[in-house]
Amino acid sequence: MPQDTVAIFDTTLRDGEQSAGIGLTTEEKVDIARQLDRLRVDIIEAGFAASSPGDFEAVQVIAREVRRPVICSLARCVAGDIDAAWAAIKEAAHPRIHVFISSSDVQIWHQLRSNPEEVLDMAVSAIERAKGYCDDVEFSPMDATRTDREYLYKILEAAIDAGATTVNIPDTVGYSIPTEFSKLIHGVIDNVRNIDKAVVSVHCHNDLGNAASNSVAAIEAGARQVEGCINGLGERAGNASLEEVIMAIQTRKDLLGVTTNVDTTQIYRTSRLVSDVTGFPVQPNKAIVGANAFRHASGIHQDGVLKDRTTFEIMEPQTVGWPSSSLVLGKLSGRAGLRARLDELGYQLDKQQLDAAFQAFKELADRKREVSDADLEALMANQRRTRSQDAVFTLEFVQVSCGDHQIPTATVRLTKHDGETVTDAATGTGPVDAVYQAINRIVQVPNTLTEFRVDAVTEGIDAIGEVTIRIQKNSGTYVGRGSDTDIIVASAKAYMNALNRLLAIERSQTAEAAPSAT
Ligand code: KIV
Ligand code: ZN
Repeated sequence: MPQDTVAIFDTTLRDGEQSAGIGLTTEEKVDIARQLDRLRVDIIEAGFAASSPGDFEAVQVIAREVRRPVICSLARCVAGDIDAAWAAIKEAAHPRIHVFISSSDVQIWHQLRSNPEEVLDMAVSAIERAKGYCDDVEFSPMDATRTDREYLYKILEAAIDAGATTVNIPDTVGYSIPTEFSKLIHGVIDNVRNIDKAVVSVHCHNDLGNAASNSVAAIEAGARQVEGCINGLGERAGNASLEEVIMAIQTRKDLLGVTTNVDTTQIYRTSRLVSDVTGFPVQPNKAIVGANAFRHASGIHQDGVLKDRTTFEIMEPQTVGWPSSSLVLGKLSGRAGLRARLDELGYQLDKQQLDAAFQAFKELADRKREVSDADLEALMANQRRTRSQDAVFTLEFVQVSCGDHQIPTATVRLTKHDGETVTDAATGTGPVDAVYQAINRIVQVPNTLTEFRVDAVTEGIDAIGEVTIRIQKNSGTYVGRGSDTDIIVASAKAYMNALNRLLAIERSQTAEAAPSAT
């Protein structure tokens, strides 16, 4: 990589998936990895192969199917983890093993119950073992920002001598602030004897809201790889929001003097996909991808933008892939019009997918006078969910009777993946409860509903309602989403989506244990 290029390392599928309340199926992870490939990130951390059979499978499938970027698996400094990481990524076109171990006193003594000498030896042995499998090895001293500086330099030097090609400086607990973090990166570059043999990377958490700023400060100080997640997902308050770092690099090239390989026009699409699949909404005022990010509300601002866009806009919305026109489709729009609009929104569909989308569009346009971009996005998200190979049950129809003098009663019909169709009915405290009870009678998977949210995709009485739910079974939380102009139908779709996800994840978690690397 040229010295003026910053490598973008996406860890949405690893650190992002560690966010409380996110559980993705392999198929969804592959969908995200494909979109990250379109975004042209350099490295995808596809998971932590040794952590579960489900993670192992996802890393392996991504390694086989996503060929351009580096595909990386995380591993502790433990032989079994490194072997599993390699077994999962060995078919990748560009594999990387990422090993990590705690380096701060507080974590070494209290969490690992070890000592600094032993940790250094474990790091060196782990890197040597990983190096036996592949050339590309990254090392992370976890909690680097709270690590004694001299010890940090020493362990990094030993890691590079053992073969690490990237050394990553994690602000694991999001403790640092930009001036301090910049000094730390300068310190690493100036004091680690062999630092010229490795790429300096940073991985910042957002506990104090500084993750993106710390990452940018590190680039100024000489870091040439940045790790982060789309929409700022990640443990606790999340990781650096990759879209923010990427756009800071692009917008402030004058100051930073570096660039990335990213196709920024794919940012919006990637953000929407990640939000849809994880069920984590993007806050309206979120930088770059929030609904208000490019909206000017006050009269003075609007006046300025109308006279000259640059008065109040530092980026053009189109550079991050915001749909440029507000063209609205309707009942009379044809297949070509729909295809052109979807193309502009970033959906590349084959003939079969376009046929299905067109049919769903026609049904929607019959119920709704104007079909906006937001409606199309909801429609495409529904299509992706119903297309899923992982679906064990498909909702065929739902019918409800309710009112203030009736016991809410629902009838549902589901098709199982073997083609069998089952119909059942139930009563409930309300129409949604009745639908869920009827589905439960067929699916028979005990669970607890922990969250239920309805959002309108657009304004107006005929708006599409988007339902997001979370259900819990044992210690797992599973998100489900569904949309329809009828919110009872949307609720049924969301429940089916959550149940299918639960069943797919349970199936992969109970699959055979990860095979050994040999
Ligand atoms: O936050 C952290 O320290 C990590 C490491 C595994 C890199 O996620
Ligand atoms: Zn992290």
